[in-house]
Amino acid sequence: MPATVVVGAQWGDEGKGKIVDLLAQQSDLVCRYQGGPNTGHTIVVGDETFKIRQIPTGIINRKPCVIGNGCVIDPEVLIGELDMFEELGYPTDEVYVSGNAHLIMPWHVAIDQASERRLGHLNIGTTKRGVGPAYADKASRIGIRVQDVLDPKILRQKIEIALAEKNLWLTRIYDEEPFELEDVASRYEQYAKRLRGHISDTSLIVDEALRAGREVLFEGAQATLLDLDHGTYPFVTSSNPSSGGAATGTGIGPTRIDVVIGVAKAYVTRVGEGPFPSEIEGPEQDRVRDLGGEFGTVTGRSRRCGWLDLVALRYAVRVNGLDRLALTKLDVLSHFAEVPVCVRYRLPDGTETEHFPAHQSDFHGAEPVYETLAGWEEPLDGCSSAAELPAAARAYVDFVERELDVDVTLIGTGAERESVLTRA
Ligand code: GDP
Ligand code: IMO
Ligand code: MG
Repeated sequence: MPATVVVGAQWGDEGKGKIVDLLAQQSDLVCRYQGGPNTGHTIVVGDETFKIRQIPTGIINRKPCVIGNGCVIDPEVLIGELDMFEELGYPTDEVYVSGNAHLIMPWHVAIDQASERRLGHLNIGTTKRGVGPAYADKASRIGIRVQDVLDPKILRQKIEIALAEKNLWLTRIYDEEPFELEDVASRYEQYAKRLRGHISDTSLIVDEALRAGREVLFEGAQATLLDLDHGTYPFVTSSNPSSGGAATGTGIGPTRIDVVIGVAKAYVTRVGEGPFPSEIEGPEQDRVRDLGGEFGTVTGRSRRCGWLDLVALRYAVRVNGLDRLALTKLDVLSHFAEVPVCVRYRLPDGTETEHFPAHQSDFHGAEPVYETLAGWEEPLDGCSSAAELPAAARAYVDFVERELDVDVTLIGTGAERESVLTRA
């Protein structure tokens, strides 16, 4: 199918990078449509592990890549990745960056850190990379865009205007050091030299690829439950990771999207604060974390771990219009004799529901209702097809599929590139 969106169906870190890496082999163009360096997509290729934050995963398959208008870009991180890939021998001349994407400026990072500190125990647990403040400035129409770096005069003027306000915030509200115009301007002028050749009309590039019948992959970052509109607000990111964001975040119409693939772990993790009904209580949580290597790619934080939540996944099916599901990390559950799956929530008024609560007080007070499935207690690495999976593992996948009414077409059985089973 020419235009495919890959979207996180939970709270992030589902293994989107690995699934995109797999699908990118058959793609002609891979596009990021939202998010910034808060992303950490891990791809294991042989002995090498890539952790990518700004550039689409397609780079590893040497495919042309687009960083769409819906993204926010930390130029230092982007340039660091461009340099890294070049040194490793991966061509980067076809990394196209939208001129309409917004830049993360040093004050965004400083404000992200200071505002989290100020919120104290009410903090969101952001990645502190300046992503939220950069999107806030975009919405306030005072952001600095990638195309602004093309003209040093405009760039300097925009930095000066921004600093007049940001320095007041930093010094008077947050008791932080101000930034110097000269320092910031000269730094960003240097970045401009390096990025100039990559800045493009990416909407046109994507449109032309689709018109030519090419395969275009849209790589979601973050995930459905971190979506600014549909996620567990305010414990969300500041963009729209859900599939609709692929259209606005790259500049194509929604009618151009053919397939939406959700990526979900066979259990759930969450980094940062916010309610999490199926979070595992007690030492079992540590066991899942250790077995799954659940430590943040960007911040190194421990990820909170929970059993698979079908109420939340059913919601992801709805808001993304999921056509298919990739279920990753099934191998991590190999170590459990029984595997609970959350099938409904019990709400504070005692009623039970299969649907994700529309109001936050219901969600905050929701208790998971579990159905316990049999575990398989054997490793999956010997399985070369879905049919070879242990019966209980197949039953687990069938159960998910039945409950969600969505086909599970890919199953992750290990971190390596090859460890994915395709299922008709
Ligand atoms: P992303 O942000 O959605 O791309 O996911 P991350 O890369 O942050 O986290 C997923 C982690 O799980 C990475 O370390 C992957 O290498 C790893 N991973 C992906 N799929 C599988 C799988 O099927 N099994 C196992 N054991 N690990 C996997
Ligand atoms: P990938 O693409 C998991 C979480 C943060 C925090 C909230 C807001 O690797 O799946 P932000 O820095 O975006 O303002 O933080 O969102 N978060 C992620 N959690 N995976 C991610 O990205 C995330 N990106 C942001 O932990 O709770
Ligand atoms: Mg990640």
